[in-house]
Amino acid sequence: MNVKEIVRKMTLEEKAGLCSGADFWRTKEVERLEVPQMMVSDGPHGLRKQEETADHLGLDESVKAVCFPAGCATAASFDRKLLRTLGETLGKECQAEGIGVLLGPAVNIKRSPLCGRNFEYFSEDPYLAGQMASSYIKGVQSKGVGTSIKHFLANNQEHRRMSSSSEVDERTLREIYLPAFEEAVKKAKPWTVMCSYNRINGVYAAQNKKYLTDVLRGEWGFDGFVVSDWGAVNDRAADLEAGLDLEMPSSFGVNDKKIVEAVESGALSEEVLDKAVERILSIVDRSVENRKEGATYDKEEDHRLARRIAAESMVLLKNDGVLPLRKGARIAFIGEFAEKPRFQGGGSSHINTFKTESAWEMADRSHVIYAQGYSTKENKLDDTLLSEAIRAAALAETAVVFAGLPDAFESEGFDRTHMRLPEYQNELIEAVCNANPNTVVVLHNGSPVEMPWIHKVKGILETYLGGQAIGGAVVDVLYGDVNPSGRLPETFPLKLEDNPSYIFYIGEGDKVEYREGVFVGYRYYDKKKMDVLFPFGHGLSYTSFQLSNLKLSKKKMEDTEELQVTVEVKNTGRCAGKEVVQLYVAAPEDGDVIRPVRELKGFEKVELAPGERKTVSFRLGKRAFAYYDAEISDFRVPTGEYRIEIGRSSRDICLSEEVTVTDTSGKRQPITMDTTIGDILKLSGAKEIVEKMIKRMGIADSGSDGNLGEGTADMAAAMQRYMPLRSALSFSGGQVTLEQVEEILDRLNRLQN
Ligand code: BGC
Repeated sequence: MNVKEIVRKMTLEEKAGLCSGADFWRTKEVERLEVPQMMVSDGPHGLRKQEETADHLGLDESVKAVCFPAGCATAASFDRKLLRTLGETLGKECQAEGIGVLLGPAVNIKRSPLCGRNFEYFSEDPYLAGQMASSYIKGVQSKGVGTSIKHFLANNQEHRRMSSSSEVDERTLREIYLPAFEEAVKKAKPWTVMCSYNRINGVYAAQNKKYLTDVLRGEWGFDGFVVSDWGAVNDRAADLEAGLDLEMPSSFGVNDKKIVEAVESGALSEEVLDKAVERILSIVDRSVENRKEGATYDKEEDHRLARRIAAESMVLLKNDGVLPLRKGARIAFIGEFAEKPRFQGGGSSHINTFKTESAWEMADRSHVIYAQGYSTKENKLDDTLLSEAIRAAALAETAVVFAGLPDAFESEGFDRTHMRLPEYQNELIEAVCNANPNTVVVLHNGSPVEMPWIHKVKGILETYLGGQAIGGAVVDVLYGDVNPSGRLPETFPLKLEDNPSYIFYIGEGDKVEYREGVFVGYRYYDKKKMDVLFPFGHGLSYTSFQLSNLKLSKKKMEDTEELQVTVEVKNTGRCAGKEVVQLYVAAPEDGDVIRPVRELKGFEKVELAPGERKTVSFRLGKRAFAYYDAEISDFRVPTGEYRIEIGRSSRDICLSEEVTVTDTSGKRQPITMDTTIGDILKLSGAKEIVEKMIKRMGIADSGSDGNLGEGTADMAAAMQRYMPLRSALSFSGGQVTLEQVEEILDRLNRLQN
């Protein structure tokens, strides 16, 4: 398709029309110019393709498909290859179903455990989210199908999601809420980006030129089209101007007409419209070019992959020697979720599964007994179900309670109000523990829960929302056929009140202030040295690993250079397993900038046979050390000593080495009369310039006799440090002149450049 030529031939009405959907899931065709329709589908962890006859709200049942583990689970795999495979498989499914763009991945940061959609999102950490998203996108797009990374930007709650304004400072956006999108856009080049419903600092995402155009296209080089979240358009002409190309779903001509009027009245330049049309057509064209007619996929094969991904993503949170279960021993599976697992969340990502498997179905029933324990339909414990559960537990070597959040507790559309499991489940777990000290809890939830029974149970397996093949995967891990290797992509706080956004989370009316700034998740808990239930990155294995021999390629470097890091990992246990080697960078503690204690900047998942040893390497560039300096509107690495830490979680650092990094940005603030003497003295070469002046001021000497108390000398030195340069005029008894201070200022600024 010659896109430019087609745009030239299109009428104003046709162009305006192309900027909104034909219906809920399709772009418009332009028959006379042979522009076909393109179909899109949710996403992200399976296809929710609706038939041609679907309703106008997109609520009808979708075609039968495969439900893979949700983002909360796949992020826990810390496995880029696995995400790539998931993407490739989804891409193949899209080809078979005639889908041009898959609406995912969803990369919003988990600001609070309460967000109703956390189950779709990857992490509280932008680096991990960006890595997972990029692998997924590369996988899908390698099959000639586009993705729509969503929801751009700062959409971290469901409460008032279509009107709330996320009030976030620029540094926090750049360090926490933008990087997952940035990494994916720069490295994986998604065909489309979906803008979110909310406002950012008062401006609707749909209308936010700064982020949709200046940052996304200008800074990151995005070349696809931006699509609105379904119904996110607020002022069509202004949105187009800001960089929102395609409105979804259809507004049934209303907004198309507004575009025409805006162009005719001169309020909107036709060039802006042409650009949007060009971008939409380019993607439609790419989709047509890559279309594989007659493609098919094997649902059973994909179900097997769903099982593998689920097993690879499970996180063994606690194990006091109770797992893996002994094959042949009598085991009790207790809880409705053993028979009817919760494996996906509600809302636009909901898959109409072609089949599901429960742990009870997949268990070796000659040795496993089952008791329902509770009913998710009742909100309290039923005496009969409880007694059956206690009886089953007492009969077994190990009791496994299948617990988690029922659908009504978390979903798209609303946020949770607390972090607890249903009370009846907590009561059941306590009762089972009393009947059998060997109790294991298997959790099904999209977001952290409080665990009041943690010290009573011997094992906890977090499955998150593990997709339709969860049952087989749980059995694989419980019995040790798969060695668990998932790691938490988020912190589990002890209680909700510990979360940094707790006080401000849903905001006041439509104003939601992100007052915790960059201190999201472990960045906050670590800074505050708070106890947590389970730290970010935590996860156990049935084998053990040793990390050793951390080496850095240099001890000193400039921020433009790269640092190579190598570390050895060895399987010191008796079975094969996978370790996730995590690399954190810790900024200098004595720096002027308030920064997190450590931040994840690398990870590698390594498979090792017993006794096997491998070397893992990482490359760290400027961004691994940088913070966003709002004064210079750029990332900057303050000169100082940085610690490279290797660990198993943000709280289990095994090795560390230091490297001195020098700032070469040269974009420092100019020195003025108001710059403090302390700051001036930090510049190399400044001491010689100001020495004489300081001596003349004589402040440090004046305090030495202790006139103002015992600490006079220290106090005088501190006061001098905090004095602005202009103080030389007031505190030198006339010995320093204005001309001299001006000359010093001039020399200092020359030194800076
Ligand atoms: C959701 C999107 C989804 C779209 C289409 C919206 O409500 O926020 O994630 O892709 O609907 O179903």
